[in-house]
Amino acid sequence: MRLGKVLVVFGTRPEAIKMAPVINELRKVKDIETVVAVTAQHREMLDQVLDLFDIKPDHDLNLMKKEQDLFSITEGVLEGIRPIIEEEKPDLVLVHGDTTTTFAAALAAFYCKIPVGHVEAGLRTRNKYSPFPEEMNRSLTGKLAELHFAPTDTSRENLLAEATAMFKIWVTGNTVIDALLQTVKPDYQFGPEFAGIDFSKRLLLVTTHRRENWGNPMREIYRALIDLTDRFPDTEVIFPVHKNPIVRDTAFEMLGNRQRIHLLEPLDYEPFTQLINASYLVLTDSGGMQEEAPSLGKPVLVLRDTTERPEALQAGTVKLVGAVYQKIMDEASLLLSDSSEYEKMARAINPYGDGKAARRIAKVITDFLYVRIGTTNF
Ligand code: UD1
Ligand code: UDP
Repeated sequence: MRLGKVLVVFGTRPEAIKMAPVINELRKVKDIETVVAVTAQHREMLDQVLDLFDIKPDHDLNLMKKEQDLFSITEGVLEGIRPIIEEEKPDLVLVHGDTTTTFAAALAAFYCKIPVGHVEAGLRTRNKYSPFPEEMNRSLTGKLAELHFAPTDTSRENLLAEATAMFKIWVTGNTVIDALLQTVKPDYQFGPEFAGIDFSKRLLLVTTHRRENWGNPMREIYRALIDLTDRFPDTEVIFPVHKNPIVRDTAFEMLGNRQRIHLLEPLDYEPFTQLINASYLVLTDSGGMQEEAPSLGKPVLVLRDTTERPEALQAGTVKLVGAVYQKIMDEASLLLSDSSEYEKMARAINPYGDGKAARRIAKVITDFLYVRIGTTNF
């Protein structure tokens, strides 16, 4: 019996990593037709993930522009997804997380009166401007969604506090753990492109891209990286630099041509996850890395003032240090010089899932489509 059609929409690297396991699970359900549309809000960084997980999009809006802003992405996604929804006539539109693709695709589905499923729902800082625009993208998508796939009990509580109906929320775990477990290999050999890195040193793995950190905050972070490598000669910084020119210009200007600071191109997910595994400490403003690194037992200093992922913070394996030079220096120096402080943070914890989140999501969607065959008022 044909249950229906699911249109999966995403556009950036993290959405692709976290949606890939869901697409693969949905494709195992033969009575569901799964159609994939990418907005390509990111291009190279998205394509790396599509290749790894062998996902060939049915629709590609190819939206990315060199200096895109929030208005142009929102407009492009809204206008671009409309004809795809009209042509495909899906029974459900599935979106992920908190990007502008997420919100605009959910809004397009709402305008077409198609129900929305939201993967990684319910994360909140309750600060409208931090992270910006992600906090509002995620909250507004939550208002539009019918099915809320919350990764943890905390995110479920956040949704309940906003009067989301209990029967529309499922705690599934985060699909990032599914992707991670499918990708990390204990016997992985790094290729020749990593030849310049001295793996006998303690590796500090760094990523930055958040809008709140553009400009001076990013300079503070990079100044701290310079002084940390000077203070601790047995360390090397590995920094795959985001494709955003705003990030790249500052990173290459301040950190280029330094012996123990390696600026790399964005890495494929497979080697990148092995690098998390090989690192001593992670410094990042990324959302996804706050989930991945703790599950591999790596301490994380979060280069932000707020986080919508409090679980690892409460467990003590991540710390918020902001983008403040002195705070980064103090906390990183402590972890690099005091082994008992390091050991306290370096524990593998997994509040974000057991690697079966995608399977649970596919099951809920199957049930949802089954019920809809009998009623239009789910
Ligand atoms: C976006 C999301 C953010 C998410 C992040 C993950 C929004 C508003 N922001 O931020 O929530 O955490 O992705 O990385 O949705 N670029 C390339 N090639 C790529 C990717 C980006 O050249 O493959 C450059 C382009 O010049 C683009 C710029 O990066 O204009 C910024 O990309 P954009 O998606 O607007 O913002 P991000 O900072 O990546
Ligand atoms: N990542 C990657 N290659 C890199 C850097 C990061 O594959 O060079 C992965 C990382 O493991 C995580 C995701 O990209 O799963 C995080 O993406 P990003 O930091 O851009 O976005 P956020 O998680 O903050 O939304």
